[in-house]
Amino acid sequence: MSQLQCIILLSLCSWIYGHSEEEEKVRVLMSQYPLIDGHNDLALQLRKLYNNNVNKIDLHNMSKIATDINRFRAGHVQAQMFSVYVLCGAQEKDAVRLTLEQIDVLRRLCTMYKDFELVTSTKELRNSHQNRSIAFMLSIEGGHSIDSSLPALRMFYQLGVRSMALTHTCNTPWAESSSKLYKFYQRKNDSLTSFGRAVVKEMNRLGMIIDLSHTSWGTAQAVLDLSKAPVIFSHSSSYTVCGNGRNVPDWLLEKLKNNQGLIMVNFHSNFISCKKKANISMVADHFDHIKRIIGADSIGIGSDFEGAESFPQGLEDVSKYPALIQELLRRNWSEQELAKVLRLNFLRVFEAVEMVRDKMIKEPPSEMQISTEEVLNPCRLELRHPGSAGHPSVSRVSSDQNQLSVPHIILSAVPLLLTLSLL
Ligand SMILES: *[C@@H]1O[C@H](CO)[C@@H](O)[C@H](O)[C@H]1NC(C)=O
Ligand SMILES: *[C@@H]1O[C@H](CO)[C@@H](O)[C@H](O)[C@H]1NC(C)=O
Ligand SMILES: *[C@@H]1O[C@H](CO)[C@@H](O)[C@H](O)[C@H]1NC(C)=O
Ligand SMILES: *[C@@H]1O[C@H](CO)[C@@H](O)[C@H](O)[C@H]1NC(C)=O
Ligand SMILES: [Zn+2]
Repeated sequence: MSQLQCIILLSLCSWIYGHSEEEEKVRVLMSQYPLIDGHNDLALQLRKLYNNNVNKIDLHNMSKIATDINRFRAGHVQAQMFSVYVLCGAQEKDAVRLTLEQIDVLRRLCTMYKDFELVTSTKELRNSHQNRSIAFMLSIEGGHSIDSSLPALRMFYQLGVRSMALTHTCNTPWAESSSKLYKFYQRKNDSLTSFGRAVVKEMNRLGMIIDLSHTSWGTAQAVLDLSKAPVIFSHSSSYTVCGNGRNVPDWLLEKLKNNQGLIMVNFHSNFISCKKKANISMVADHFDHIKRIIGADSIGIGSDFEGAESFPQGLEDVSKYPALIQELLRRNWSEQELAKVLRLNFLRVFEAVEMVRDKMIKEPPSEMQISTEEVLNPCRLELRHPGSAGHPSVSRVSSDQNQLSVPHIILSAVPLLLTLSLL
């Protein structure tokens, strides 16, 4: 066939199917390398809109939100890290219970829908692609979910959680947030305490991906210096392009490259344009800038759908990813680079995390406990043997048993639902 015939045939097909040549190229690329997205807050919406009662809703077609099965399929999304986020207001209260409930609702969806499959390893992730399933990966967003307990962290791992962001918008007793919204657990100089270092090591040992989106730069730097495995920013963009504290500055990107980690670009308009509105070309500017600083091997996509209020024109829901890939092709990104952005970079990082776990197989679980002075939590009980020196069998840890500590009062005063733009 001559080149001319080819062109005529292609144009004819485009005309018949309503696809441009460019769209067809994206379709072929994304069919071969379907997306693994780093962050989606579907579970938060299920709690807010349906109180987690999912028996009567149809996830194929969810008109109230940006995420459903039909649009996942249209967007060539093969795997999604789903956040099991609970609000910072639950810190030192019932954060652990609430996190369990968010894990429960996502695991139930995986049994209710043939389209979904819970995956906990790169092997299962690859199999789920063969099976044409949409893979669910569970990810804790904020160290407050483990209530400063390594045993709790390990039990979350047993339930399938494979990633944890060390903070959300609140500091934990052991790590620092990029946000100054909450006043408690503020520190001058210790962005990762000795317990925080134990959390990092235990996550390395377990094979859990460390997520630095939402941490302060100081905490991110301390973790990058300490972690034996690559880390991710699951939903953050470039600070140079948009100077929001949730974004990553170039000097940290350099450290991330040395760590062989991954930044998964967040689409939220506020983090793209630093304004309420944005468009696809501005999102592509973040990709171009990050590639210029650290190359295409450390970039991915972490949309933050369901976790924020406004998304760029043309990128409003989970069916729209192809439009971004088309824009990047137009900007001379190679298909090989885009294959990495779509999924190969994430698979490489997750595999490296698993290899570190395998190397540490002989190390026992850490028995490090946080000191009682470091956790300002009136809800913590210390269980004692009934016979021990006449003490009651259960006593409160803090001496001021009946008084609420100052941080606790501040916590209680925080409105339960934060504005979503903080997520
Ligand atoms: C999705 O649901 C809406 C109403 O909620 C309906 O109008 C529409 O036809 C449905 N689409 C599909 C593909 O089922
Ligand atoms: C996916 O495929 C693997 C093997 O390729 C199989 O073990 C697994 O059960 C499959 N899962 C589903 C949901 O079909
Ligand atoms: C930070 O704190 C550590 C002890 O926790 C101390 O050794 C170090 O000098 C402090 N650094 C600064 C800059 O204050
Ligand atoms: C995106 O917005 C910028 C700034 O407003 C504008 O210059 C550009 O033309 C827009 N691009 C598209 C594709 O709409
Ligand atoms: Zn977030």
